Amino acid sequence: MKKPIYLDYAATTPVAPEVITTMLQYLDKDHIFGNPHSTTHIYGFNAASAVEQARSRFAEIIHAHPTEIIYTSGATEANNLALQGIAHFHKKRGQHIISVQTEHKAVLDVLKFLQSQGFEVTYLPVNSQGTIDLAALKKAIRKDTILATVMMVNNETGVLHPIKDIAKILHEQQIFFHVDAAQALGKIPINVKELDIDLMSFSAHKIYGPKGIGALYMRAHPQIQLEPLFFGGGQEQNLRAGTLAPFLIAGFTKAAELCQQHILEEIKHIFNLKKLFWEGLKDLKQVQINSDFNVSIPYICNITFKDVDPESFLLALEEQCAISQSSACTSAHMEPSHVLRAMGLTAHEASCSFRFSFGRDTTEDDIHSTIKFLRAAL
Ligand SMILES: Cc1ncc(COP(=O)(O)O)c(C=O)c1O
Repeated sequence: MKKPIYLDYAATTPVAPEVITTMLQYLDKDHIFGNPHSTTHIYGFNAASAVEQARSRFAEIIHAHPTEIIYTSGATEANNLALQGIAHFHKKRGQHIISVQTEHKAVLDVLKFLQSQGFEVTYLPVNSQGTIDLAALKKAIRKDTILATVMMVNNETGVLHPIKDIAKILHEQQIFFHVDAAQALGKIPINVKELDIDLMSFSAHKIYGPKGIGALYMRAHPQIQLEPLFFGGGQEQNLRAGTLAPFLIAGFTKAAELCQQHILEEIKHIFNLKKLFWEGLKDLKQVQINSDFNVSIPYICNITFKDVDPESFLLALEEQCAISQSSACTSAHMEPSHVLRAMGLTAHEASCSFRFSFGRDTTEDDIHSTIKFLRAAL
């Protein structure tokens, strides 16, 4: 049976063949399988050296220093470490945090937990395009604000937030700034120094790397201090205990390197696909794109089909294209997207909205076929 066209790259990507080849160098007895924390033999030294090489290379890609990279299991863990870590370490300075209503659950649920521990959170609203008002951010700052967290790219709409401008406002008031960049890495060039970020979360499986690995960038100058989430062998500067996985770390770096090498041509390719896609649908009645081209990255396209029954629509498309109704992490709950609701869509409109996310292997033919399938399903 022919598989449906994959248009859910924002949920996860397939692992690139070059990444698989790289990872195989760190698994079996004929390769570098040692524990990178073994300090008494060559097996351990070789594994540690592989990890440090990968760390340096990844740091270089995001314009950081190797000591500023803390490996985690993914962006969810990196977000938890950053937000809980800062909140708990600096709670004597203040207990107020600023975020945005349209963040991923991997941030919102951490903030909810912190609220249950006595922290106060201001959630900034967004406009109908999904962007925030910087004047509202300035107004939300209080004397006891210690931290703000704003994602770089929204996972449902592709909206790109003005990270550098936000950093400037926050740093004038000595407020730490964390950015969830799970959907930005590999899709737009990232320079943490130029953006002036304190903490940034990354995930490998959104960039053709393996699942189960990610990283937290943590600024060294001035040094950011965090409380760890859990304790163990003192790895990762005592911030993330547990044996590191050299094969995942090497795979993550290889994936990031491949993205870096091809990023400009890929952005052009994906932009053309998104344009083609919307051109093929925009004449339909009761159809709207959520977040215009000028506020979003091309990799994600969120469309509302106001007239459809969402369940029958998805069923009709099931064998033809793999799309998502909301973010993969929240689709288990099947409630209308909080992102689209925050942008002013009604519950019905939000439930009739679908995310199409394009990737390296998406072709123009895929787009033409999907337009055909969608028109037929409608
Ligand atoms: C914006 C954003 N943050 C965090 C995550 C979670 O990342 P991970 O699967 O690496 O924990 C995702 C994944 O969907 C995401 O899109």
